[in-house]
Amino acid sequence: MSSVDHPYRTRIRSFTRRGGRMPPRHQVAYDALAPTYVIDVPRDGGSTTVDPAYSLDVADVFGRQAPLIVEVGPGSGDALIAGAKALPDTDFLALEVWQPGIGQCLSRLVEDPLPNLRFVEADAEVALATMLPAGSVAEVWTYFPDPWPKRRQQHRRIVRPEFADTVCRVLAPGGMWRLATDIEGYAAHMRALLDHHDSLEFVSTDRAPLRPVTRFERRGVAVGRDIADLNYRRRA
Ligand SMILES: C[S@@+](CC[C@H](N)C(=O)[O-])C[C@H]1O[C@@H](n2cnc3c(N)ncnc32)[C@H](O)[C@@H]1O
Repeated sequence: MSSVDHPYRTRIRSFTRRGGRMPPRHQVAYDALAPTYVIDVPRDGGSTTVDPAYSLDVADVFGRQAPLIVEVGPGSGDALIAGAKALPDTDFLALEVWQPGIGQCLSRLVEDPLPNLRFVEADAEVALATMLPAGSVAEVWTYFPDPWPKRRQQHRRIVRPEFADTVCRVLAPGGMWRLATDIEGYAAHMRALLDHHDSLEFVSTDRAPLRPVTRFERRGVAVGRDIADLNYRRRA
């Protein structure tokens, strides 16, 4: 199959590339720290698509063997940075398409480096499907994924059957998928899909231990929305 007709080329994207410009402080941090923290992956045409033939050698990247947590769409990185600080013996890989978000995260690492954290600036759906070995991830975090609230856009929500299969592929047996959303219909959709997934076992609606209150959570609470936390375990 040529790269032109590769299925990843015609997939439905869960994101639009928004506002490319960063505040100067974030740009300075991005320019200084991206060579250390942002893994330079080969691309398959589109700038957000990791070449599906590429495998990431995680132990080589971090220089050790350690449990790995992957965050899908960390945005400005509140949960990611809190997690990486709290668990220095765990490695964190953040998959984010929004470069200004990565810039903002990096601006927080200028004074406070985190050797157990790396970013891949790419579409997580493709990166997770191809870049990491099966069963290699201890946890996947998907907090406040883009809600795509309009009915005609809902097919773009990242939590859909193919993505659930992708997450299950990378999770180790017993590994956890932790999700949160403030959109009632999205939470119901997650439950309807994931409760019946053959490879997942529903665990709880408890708030994830390391999940801090983020801008998205505050915004949802301010307009009277309930926050749904969902925790699933990868079956052995
Ligand atoms: C609503 S924000 C939430 C950010 C963060 N998780 C939080 O709770 O504050 C969703 C984030 O997911 C990112 N995103 C959406 N689709 C993605 C994809 N396919 N791969 C990687 N990141 C994605 C967006 O760029 C955005 O930063």
